[in-house]
Amino acid sequence: MATEIAIEQERNLVGGRWVPSRSGKSFENRNPADKDDLVGVFPDSGREDVEAAVAAAKQAYPGWRSTPAPRRAEVLYAAGEILKRDKEKLARLMTREMGKVLAETRGDVQEAIDMAFLAAGEGRRLFGFTTPSELRDKFAMCVRQPVGVCAFVTPWNFPMAIPAWKGMAALIAGNTVVIKPASDTPASVVALARVLEEAGLPPGVWNVVMGSGGAVGDPLVTHPDVKVVSFTGSTEVGRRISTACAPTFKRLHLEMGGKNAILVMDDADVDLAVDGAVWGAFGTTGQRCTASSRLLVHRKVYDDFLGKLVNRTKALKVGNGLAPGIDMGPCVSEKQRDSVARYVAIGKKEGARLVCGGEVLSGGDFAKGWFHAPTIFADATMTMRVACEEIFGPVTTVVPVSSLEEGIRLANAVPYGLSGSIYTRDVTKAFTAMREFETGIFYVNSSTIGAEVHLPFGGVKDTGNGHREAGIAGLDVFTEWKSIYVDFSGRLQKAQIDTYE
Ligand code: UN1
Repeated sequence: MATEIAIEQERNLVGGRWVPSRSGKSFENRNPADKDDLVGVFPDSGREDVEAAVAAAKQAYPGWRSTPAPRRAEVLYAAGEILKRDKEKLARLMTREMGKVLAETRGDVQEAIDMAFLAAGEGRRLFGFTTPSELRDKFAMCVRQPVGVCAFVTPWNFPMAIPAWKGMAALIAGNTVVIKPASDTPASVVALARVLEEAGLPPGVWNVVMGSGGAVGDPLVTHPDVKVVSFTGSTEVGRRISTACAPTFKRLHLEMGGKNAILVMDDADVDLAVDGAVWGAFGTTGQRCTASSRLLVHRKVYDDFLGKLVNRTKALKVGNGLAPGIDMGPCVSEKQRDSVARYVAIGKKEGARLVCGGEVLSGGDFAKGWFHAPTIFADATMTMRVACEEIFGPVTTVVPVSSLEEGIRLANAVPYGLSGSIYTRDVTKAFTAMREFETGIFYVNSSTIGAEVHLPFGGVKDTGNGHREAGIAGLDVFTEWKSIYVDFSGRLQKAQIDTYE
């Protein structure tokens, strides 16, 4: 078995040096499955630490920007290889710090590996384009250029995959980075920084500053030397960041909430749909932006689907994600667990029918962690808060529908637009739903989760602000287009004025 990665007294990474916070203050991070397990102590940083990190990133920028992209790619390729080598250790560390089961934390690390290799391949492409000029003896082309210092504010639910989505794309394009990880999952980001360091990334290209949103996030995203901000988190915080970044015209990429629906039609393979619903609703303890938090089920298969869903959910084994045979880990923190419990109380009050779970799990094996039972509300309507608001926990809501049209209308009746799915055997229904769902990601006969790194990830409506990450589309956040005209005619030629008659 792989040995644990020992993380105890951690430091920020600034300009290639691991340094304590200027104030000397620190915060603890504990295992959400076992609060006696101290994962590490991390610097509780502030404005001065942010200043130093941004200055380091700014200083490293010219050197990294002018390193040929195929050479930058070699560093990312090496990082991918190190991540592969250390996958098991990194996954175990991640389960300890955020709770999701080992199979899923392995997937999280795998997503970072995939992203490293995707970005490394891009080092020999980073395609722009050439196009004919309207004038003779004139050449026209468009190239991607890096933007500068990028600030990342990253979430705790995908502690390594999401920093890698942002980071690998930013780095291959020639930018430098300051990252503030979520305070619930700093260890995975420290581990990723060590991987990049070992891979040979020059000092100052990747900097890490840990601490709270107020003390680190705010000065970071408003810093005048930061040119790109990429944030994944709640819509509420995203709106604040958007306002804070507006006066300096920073390029801003926001990836926010979701309330994703699976639409189960009357001709669906019900067992397959139940598989997808259980995985989508309770994987990562429901703490995914892409979680299947709404199940819109045709009345003709409603009872069959619900019965099977409840049976399957009752059989899920909840516990410490490091233990074998566990299907679902704890919520990430006490705060998150309490927020889930509050939503369950709201659902009951609103009159949704609680058919499974509904309780905080305490005592026995659960005594030291923040566990909540996988919970299903049935017979819900779209007027209920539990059916419209993002809960970010192991709670899903089942809503009956009578037709494809009603299903699509209800699927779209939320402010979010990240992911959606339909289970049907009818190609017409599948294509109609594919076109009509107001989401950035859509699945047919598969759950709402499971995005792959070479396709764009992101959403519409209140989920995003028009950008995507991962895939080639992710490069758009971290590059500026430059249009270049080369006139080799030896005379003054005037676009739009000169004509060839
Ligand atoms: C998230 O939901 O916060 O598609 C990210 C998925 C993962 C990434 C999810 N590959 O579920």
